[in-house]
Amino acid sequence: MNRRGRERRARPRPAPVVQRTDLALAEIVADRFRPSTRTLLLDGREAGQVDLNDPRRLTFAYMRRIADLIDVFRPPGAGIDALHLGGGAFALPRYLAATRPASRSEVFELDAGVVKLAREHLMLRTTPKLRVKVGDAADLLRVEPDRCADLVIGDAFDGPHVPAQLSGAAFAAEVCRVLKPAGVYVLNVIDVPPLDEARAHAADLRATFANVLWIAPPGVLRARAPGNVVLLASDAALPEAALRRAATAAVPREQVLAA
Ligand SMILES: C[S@@+](CC[C@H](N)C(=O)[O-])C[C@H]1O[C@@H](n2cnc3c(N)ncnc32)[C@H](O)[C@@H]1O
Repeated sequence: MNRRGRERRARPRPAPVVQRTDLALAEIVADRFRPSTRTLLLDGREAGQVDLNDPRRLTFAYMRRIADLIDVFRPPGAGIDALHLGGGAFALPRYLAATRPASRSEVFELDAGVVKLAREHLMLRTTPKLRVKVGDAADLLRVEPDRCADLVIGDAFDGPHVPAQLSGAAFAAEVCRVLKPAGVYVLNVIDVPPLDEARAHAADLRATFANVLWIAPPGVLRARAPGNVVLLASDAALPEAALRRAATAAVPREQVLAA
């Protein structure tokens, strides 16, 4: 074992939590080297990761790219009104609360059991600034008032796919309705070469919004590897240069492409 290996010796960690929620078999697993980092798996798929000691520390690369947008969207201290489609480990609403305490997050989560699990095992605490509604995000979004959100973060999955009711041009128009004029829609897509799903989502976004960007690792963008694509859409100019700097500085490096 090298020196680094000795330093990274595993620490005692809590046993995994395995529970059936309303819709999935859920597991919460503590990281071997940093037990405060917990990964949520739903039916064996990674559905979120949160560091219970430091909600600013996001470990999933796609979540860091969304955090890049949060960081360049408003200066530190300025609040952001966000709607989150999909709760999972509630990592992103907690990142927003930790980095911009004046923010307000409303999280739409389909599975009441996921919310219960997050409360009991992932230290989720709801407050007037971090509220959770249980139900289908498409139905819950429909009753939100016009122009109520700075950010809508779409991070909900049916298996590896964005649910059908959260896809398509009509849904993109619904997201556009609830966004403030300078608001941004962030959509996380999981795809494999040749990126048919990401291209279809990007086309729906382009039909509705003036500006669309893709952010992903270079191999994913070149359709050589599977992975996450983060799509950003807005009627206002997107902070492309700042996002490109953040993506280039990321380890591993990612790329920003205008659609
Ligand atoms: C990838 S996780 C979300 C991770 C989350 N963004 C975070 O910060 O930890 C996806 C979640 O979307 C939820 N989901 C799936 N379909 C949904 C729907 N139609 N409406 C709301 N939530 C949904 C799943 O139950 C799962 O908890």
